[in-house]
Amino acid sequence: MPTMQKPIYTGKAKDIFETEDPNILRTYFRDSATAFNAQKKGEIVGKGKINATISTLLFELMEDFGIKTHFVKQISENELLVKRVKIIPLEVIVRNISAGSLCKRLGIEEGKVLKAPIVEFSYKKDELGDPLLTRAYIKNALEIADDETLDKITELTLKINKIFKEFFLNVGIKVVDFKLEYGIDKDGNMLLADELSPDNFRFWDAKTNEKLDKDRFRQDLGKVEDAYIEMLKRVKEGKSKMTNAKTQEKTFSVRVQVLPKADILDPQGQAVEKALASMGYKGVKDLKVGREVVFKVEAESESEAKNKAKEMCERLLANPVIEDYKIEVVG
Ligand code: C5P
Repeated sequence: MPTMQKPIYTGKAKDIFETEDPNILRTYFRDSATAFNAQKKGEIVGKGKINATISTLLFELMEDFGIKTHFVKQISENELLVKRVKIIPLEVIVRNISAGSLCKRLGIEEGKVLKAPIVEFSYKKDELGDPLLTRAYIKNALEIADDETLDKITELTLKINKIFKEFFLNVGIKVVDFKLEYGIDKDGNMLLADELSPDNFRFWDAKTNEKLDKDRFRQDLGKVEDAYIEMLKRVKEGKSKMTNAKTQEKTFSVRVQVLPKADILDPQGQAVEKALASMGYKGVKDLKVGREVVFKVEAESESEAKNKAKEMCERLLANPVIEDYKIEVVG
């Protein structure tokens, strides 16, 4: 719920509040929607909650891949706690497929798969309509970032793009383009900031090319709410696929064969050997009766799985005084 507290910043779809901790801010995701630099305004019912949750899941995905973000935690359906950062006033846009302002600027059709992903920078300045910038504008006119920072941002953005493309393709979504913002925290770290949601991404269904993002609002395509709901569903699906793959990856099948030692009396083996002889099977010698133990074990690697199994054999699965054991990791 929105509180009586005054926001320190009101964006087009979010309000930002201070907390008791000067380094932590609270962001409230609203249902309001704007397009074309706020010339078109409206509301997408339920968007605030959905975008807060999608952002949470995608920031966590980023952190899983070692990308530092401003995300701390989701504290309610519409609210996240984030680290306070000084936003670099650049809209960092990455494009995989032509759409939106790229098509307008270059006069090309929507839907062209670009030869390679494009990273571009716009000036985050509503009054100017977020103009496209060259590196020289950024370095020498605005002086908001140097070459080293821009190289770092570009490299990080391409890495993020690769993660998102793979993650979303796994749930039948093409990542057409998206916008990122970066900020600097109190210790000088560059963190991925803002939000990660269908407000800032173009998502197309991989089979039908149906648009599942804010373009439905921008272009009055209808079923706007449904698109956001569908994207939340796909993100959740993607996350659970990843969790399953992770658990499977870290599980090893182990087969342990336990046999009496060569010099140990094996009455069971002797009995079977005798029984076979009495049935007419001649020449059967040194018969041993052992047992096989099979199980799955969680481990980071095959050798860790083997070590765990060895420990289990020494402690429980075999009697090392009278038995030998052989461990095999079979899958
Ligand atoms: O409009 P344009 O084609 O430049 O947008 C590229 C991508 O960046 C789109 O996914 C759009 O949603 C996002 N974007 C944004 N905020 C802006 C401008 C673009 O999230 N101010």
